[in-house]
Amino acid sequence: MRLKIIGTGSYLPEKIATNDHMAQLVETNDEWISTRTGIKQRHLVSSPEENTTYMAIQAAKKALADSGLQAEDIDVILVATVSSDYVTPSTACMVQKELGASHAVSFDINAACAGFLFGLNTVDAYFRCGVYQTALIIGVETLSKIVDWSDRSTCVLFGDGAGAVIAKADESGMIACLQGSDGTHAEVLSCKARSNNNPYISTDKNLDYVFMNGQEVFKFAVRKVPECLNLLLEQANLTLEDVDYYLLHQANYRILTSIAKKLHLPMDKFPSNVDRCGNTSAASIPILLDELNHKGVLKEGSILFLSGFGAGLTWGAALLKW
Ligand code: UT7
Repeated sequence: MRLKIIGTGSYLPEKIATNDHMAQLVETNDEWISTRTGIKQRHLVSSPEENTTYMAIQAAKKALADSGLQAEDIDVILVATVSSDYVTPSTACMVQKELGASHAVSFDINAACAGFLFGLNTVDAYFRCGVYQTALIIGVETLSKIVDWSDRSTCVLFGDGAGAVIAKADESGMIACLQGSDGTHAEVLSCKARSNNNPYISTDKNLDYVFMNGQEVFKFAVRKVPECLNLLLEQANLTLEDVDYYLLHQANYRILTSIAKKLHLPMDKFPSNVDRCGNTSAASIPILLDELNHKGVLKEGSILFLSGFGAGLTWGAALLKW
């Protein structure tokens, strides 16, 4: 049995911050952000209650309704996030409680922008082993709480939001998938958690913010995504032409165009919402999936290539039949 997606849902905060709003905060302008990234606006949380947990729950409820399953039917809940509201319990446990998914085992995955793909990979492995039959997989981020709002090189890039899918074990669906990581480049994109703090060690009380060497991550993405694609196509005995849509992590429109160019593919095969949502890290692929699903773009039998890449460094990819 393989992973088959049977429902999608997403949540984007109502508050929209345009590039002109960014220009009121830091030394930047719409022209720089648009031409370097393709981003025009991003959604940002705007109340204490509208947090990571809340967004994950909203997306999950929509995905559940879309799938026709009940919360008690779910065997496993995985939440991909690096911006939980609690160190413990996990966001997945909070979602489980709110949904009343009393039979599910729930835990979080920390794999940054590749997190949702790590979730798909993990669930597919569970399904293949026969351990579980149904899953809720969520990608959710409130990166606005961990970016430095005085650093123009990062704060203009990110947005908040959540996307979720319901998957069931089926005869078709996941065709092939992979995931990987390379901790030797951990410093390229990072955000420190709390430092040591006990009666015997002095602490730096300053909280850390997201640091990114953008150019290194850019080069990594443009190299790694085609590498993953070729591996999966070979494994599945498929060609580039068999793939209907390439749904990549929405970090930067220029990354998408560079990859499309490398593969000699037209941009209409690379749906994107980075102009409206910015980079929502682990949430970007499930938000895009939900958008395309509800627009009717994805047809039964469509072949999709999904790929996420980011901090760690981490990467994940999947070829799946809709
Ligand atoms: O989601 C996780 C994965 N993340 C990614 O995939 C991100 C990948 N990287 C990128 O998308 C791009 O590297 C960025 C969008 C982050 C940066 O674009 P870039 O073309 O690589 O710009 P840069 O960092 O080389 O900066 C070029 C110039 C610099 O000025 P100087 O040194 O040339 O005078 C920056 O200081 O642009 C300046 N700059 C800005 N100017 C106006 C940086 N940020 C801004 C800004 N507004 N917001």
